Amino acid sequence: MLSREDNEILVRVGPGTAMGNLMRRFWLPALLESELPDNDGTPVRIRLLGEDLVAFRDSLGRIGLLEEHCPHRRSSLALGANEDCGLRCLYHGWKFDVNGQCVDTPAEPEGATLAKAMRAKAYATHVAGGMIWAYMGPAEEKPPFPDFPWLSMTGGHSVPFKLLEDCNYAQAVEGTSIPPMPACCIAKIPGRRKQNIPMKGISARGSRSTIPIMAFAIAPFGMTRGFVTRA
Ligand code: FES
Repeated sequence: MLSREDNEILVRVGPGTAMGNLMRRFWLPALLESELPDNDGTPVRIRLLGEDLVAFRDSLGRIGLLEEHCPHRRSSLALGANEDCGLRCLYHGWKFDVNGQCVDTPAEPEGATLAKAMRAKAYATHVAGGMIWAYMGPAEEKPPFPDFPWLSMTGGHSVPFKLLEDCNYAQAVEGTSIPPMPACCIAKIPGRRKQNIPMKGISARGSRSTIPIMAFAIAPFGMTRGFVTRA
């Protein structure tokens, strides 16, 4: 049984927390690629590791992932206009590109250099396996994107999915990673043997994996993202 103090360390993932710092050193599944289908389409709000963010696909198809609230007066950039290679705030019209650089401040006089000095917090993204991944840690520590073979599976062999679980990430991890569960519970599902339901991917040492389940229960606030791949 964890102490209250240890539990606090485990479950908090916001900026500056121990687990938050750890998770920010990895590429995290952020949203499905299908959630941003169109260039200049509607921006999407997401909450990741306790941070409110907005994702958008710009005119060139590049993915931006910015802090949701505008660095000027904190309006929501999720309500902004996604146009001409940037996200324009609905309040005073400042516009930010996918790197968070302010590229336009329409109320400033011609020749003003304010835009150059302004940035929104932005995170690196990578598209693979039908998902958009985010790196939220220090830029100088950014690891190369992992080369897992299931990230390049095509033709129905890979099914990206997203589940909403109304719980802390630690509960989701615990619920999907109990080693004895397949042996003592799933193996006793009535009719499993008769119907030849393949469960081996979840379990069990020595068995051949037919459906490896890759669950990324690393997003807080109940958002679990992952893949089912069919070997
Ligand atoms: S609050 Fe966004 S431009 Fe002013």
